[in-house]
Amino acid sequence: MKKLFTWFIMSAMAISVLADEGMWIPMLLGRNEADMKKAGMRISAKDIYDINNACLKDAILLFNQGCTGEYVSDEGLFLTNHHCGYSYITSHSTVEHDYLTNGFWAMSREEELPCPGLTATRLVRMEDVTAKVLEGVTANTSEGERAAIIESNIQKITAAAMMGTHYKAIIKPFYYGNQYFMYVNEVFTDVRLVGAPPSNIGKFGGDTDNWMWPRHTGDFSMFRVYADKDNKPAPYSADNKPYKPLKHLEISLNGVKEGDFTFVFGYPGTTQRYVTSDHVELTANIENPIRIDLRTIRLKHYNNAMNKSAGQRLKYASKVASIANGWKKWQGETQGINRLKGVEKKKEFEQRFQQWANAKSEYRDVLPKMHEDYEKLRPIEVELTYFSEAVRASDFMGRAKNYRDLANASEKEVAEMVKKLKESNEKYFSDFELHTVVDKAIFVETFLYMWKAGYAPYLGDVKSGDDAEKKLSKIYDESMLNNKEKLQKFLDGYTISKAKKLNDDPALKLYDKAYTLAYDPEKIATYRRTYADIQRLMRSYVKGMMEMQPTVKFFPDANLTLRVAYGHVEGFRPRDGVYYKPYSTLQGIMEKENPDIYDYVVEPKLKRLYNRQDYGRYGVLDPQRPNDGPDMPVGFIATNHTTGGNSGSPVLDADGRLIGLNFDRCWEGTMSDLLFDPDYCRNICLDIRYCLFIIDKFAGAKHLVDEMTLVGGK
Ligand code: ARG
Ligand code: GLU
Repeated sequence: MKKLFTWFIMSAMAISVLADEGMWIPMLLGRNEADMKKAGMRISAKDIYDINNACLKDAILLFNQGCTGEYVSDEGLFLTNHHCGYSYITSHSTVEHDYLTNGFWAMSREEELPCPGLTATRLVRMEDVTAKVLEGVTANTSEGERAAIIESNIQKITAAAMMGTHYKAIIKPFYYGNQYFMYVNEVFTDVRLVGAPPSNIGKFGGDTDNWMWPRHTGDFSMFRVYADKDNKPAPYSADNKPYKPLKHLEISLNGVKEGDFTFVFGYPGTTQRYVTSDHVELTANIENPIRIDLRTIRLKHYNNAMNKSAGQRLKYASKVASIANGWKKWQGETQGINRLKGVEKKKEFEQRFQQWANAKSEYRDVLPKMHEDYEKLRPIEVELTYFSEAVRASDFMGRAKNYRDLANASEKEVAEMVKKLKESNEKYFSDFELHTVVDKAIFVETFLYMWKAGYAPYLGDVKSGDDAEKKLSKIYDESMLNNKEKLQKFLDGYTISKAKKLNDDPALKLYDKAYTLAYDPEKIATYRRTYADIQRLMRSYVKGMMEMQPTVKFFPDANLTLRVAYGHVEGFRPRDGVYYKPYSTLQGIMEKENPDIYDYVVEPKLKRLYNRQDYGRYGVLDPQRPNDGPDMPVGFIATNHTTGGNSGSPVLDADGRLIGLNFDRCWEGTMSDLLFDPDYCRNICLDIRYCLFIIDKFAGAKHLVDEMTLVGGK
C-alpha cells in the first residue's frame, strides 16, 4: 500500500502543476484570481492587467531583449538589475571614470547618460489570435503548408494591428503552437543611465555568490525613458522630455515576513516544462557536463588575468560574468535534476501517457517517434555543443572566422571588411602581449579537451596529448593572424586574388576543418528536420497531456512574453541539517567582508553607515531585540517561479506594491526551467529598502527617491 501511495504521489508530481509553479498569462489571470486571493493577494486580476484602464502592466517594461524593468516615478524613471545595465555602465566607464567600480549617480537630468541601442518596451495590449493564425489550417494540412499559412496569416494580422499607429506587433506561439497570442508594443529608444551603485555593492559577492543564497548583492541600476513632446517614442534628442508612464509602481517600506504573498511580474525567457525524458537526459547529463568542463578552462585563464591588474579586470569583467553565469547554473541544474530523479520521473509519466494514448490514433505514436528523433538529434547536438563551447572559445578562432569571411568575400564587399578588420586589429594588438597569453592557453586547452574526447579527429595523426598540444601551439604561433606587422601589410594590399594566402593560413585551415565537421550540410539538414519534427510532436504531446488531465491547469512555457508568477516568502532546506532563512541583512555583508578578495570588499562609506546603524527610514527594528537598534534588510527569497529574463522584475506584495527586485534563483533550484520543486525552487530578490538606502543614504541621491511614491514604513 505504502509503495503504491508513493508511486501515486510521485507521478502526480510529474504531471500536475504544483503550488507556486507557473508563469501565467496576464490577460487570463482571472483564472488564477481565486487561487491568488486564497494565497493572500488583496488586489484583483484587473488591477494587474486591464485593457481599458491603466494598470500594473503599464508600469512594466522589457529591457532590451532579456531583462525586465519597472517605472517608479511619473517621470520615466525605472529600476532594473545592475547586471542588466552592466554593459551600459561598462561602456560609459574608462580607467579614469570607472563607473563600474565606483558607481554613477546623475545629480541632474543633464548628467544622465544616453545609451544608444537600448530599448524599453511597453506592452499596450495582448490578444488571443489562435483562430486567425490557424485560419486555413486543417487536419490534412502538411507541416510545410501549415508553416507557410501561419507565416502569411501572422503577417496580415500584425500589419492590421500596427496600421496607423506607432506600435509594433508580434505574434508568438504558446504550448508549441496550440495557441497564439499577439503582443502590441510601444518601443522606446531614448533611454538614459541615471544611477548605478559601485560594483562592490551592485555585484557584491560577484560570481562566487552568483546563484546562491544567502545573498547580499545590491543588484540594481536606474534608467530614465525619454519621449517626444507627445509622450511617444523617439530617437535620442536633447529636446526629448522624460516619459510619463500611464502607471508607476508604489513602493512599500513595510517589508516582508515569511509566508507573505508575493508575485513577480516580468519577462521570463525560456522554460521547457513539458519536454520528454530524452531531452532532460540530453541537457542534464550529456550537454551540461561538456559545457561545464570547457567553461572551467576558460574561466581559469580569464580569472588569472583579472587578478593581475585593474585594467585586465575591466577588460574581461563582462565576458567572464556571462561565461560564469551559465557555467554555474548548469551545475546546479544537473545536480537538481539528478537529485529529483528527473529523468526517471519523466519516464514514469511517459508510461502513463502511453497507456492512455494507446487507444488514440492521434497520440499513439507521439512518444515513440519523439524518442527516435532524439536518437538522431543527440550526436549532432553534441557536436554543435563542442563547436560553440570549444571551437569558438578563443578569440583566435573567432578571428579565424572573420578572416574566413574575408577570404570568401566578393570584390564589392572587400573594402568595407578590410576596414573593419583593421579597426578591430588596432584594439586587438594594443595589449596583444598580455591577451595572447590568455587566449592561446584557452585555444590550446579547449581543443585538447575536444581531441581527447574524440571530437577533433582533424588534428590528424597526433599520438599523445603532448603532441596535440605542440601542434596546436604551433598553429597559434605560425598563423599570420597573430603577427601584427605581417597582417597589417597583408591587409593593406588585400584584393580577392590574395584569398589563397588566407586559405593556407593554419588558423583558417583548422577552423575550416572544425566547421566542416560540425556543420556538414547533410547533418545540419537532418538536424533541422528532426528538430522541426520534435516541435510538431511536442504540439501533439502537450495537447494530449491536456486532454488526459482535464482538471490540471497548464501554464505555457516562458517565451519572453509578460507573465505573472506568484508564491510566498519562504526559506528552504538546501541539504541535510541546513535551513536557510528567507532574509539577509547588512550584517551578512560585514560577515563576508574580506579586503583581500575582490568580490568581498566593502565600501568604507557603507561600513560607516553600518557602524552607526544609520539607515534612515529604511532600517527595521527586530521586535525580539528592540534594544539592538535597527537592521538593514538586503535580500529575501520566495517561491515564485522565475527564469532568465525575469531579472529586474518587480516583486510585489499583496497590494501590488513594490517590495523588491528579482535578480536570481537559488542554485539548488536551478532545474526549475525543466522541473519545478517547491521544496527547493526559490527566486532571489533585492529588498527595495536596501536599494532606496543605497540611493539615498549611501549615494546622497535623495532627489531620485523624492521622485518615487513611498508608502508605509515608520
Ligand atoms: N545569475 C543571475 C542571472 O542569471 C545573475 C547574473 C549576473 N551576475 C554574475 N555574477 N555573473 O542572470
Ligand atoms: N539573473 C537572471 C536574469 O538575468 C535571473 C535568474 C534566473 O535565471 O532565474 O534574468
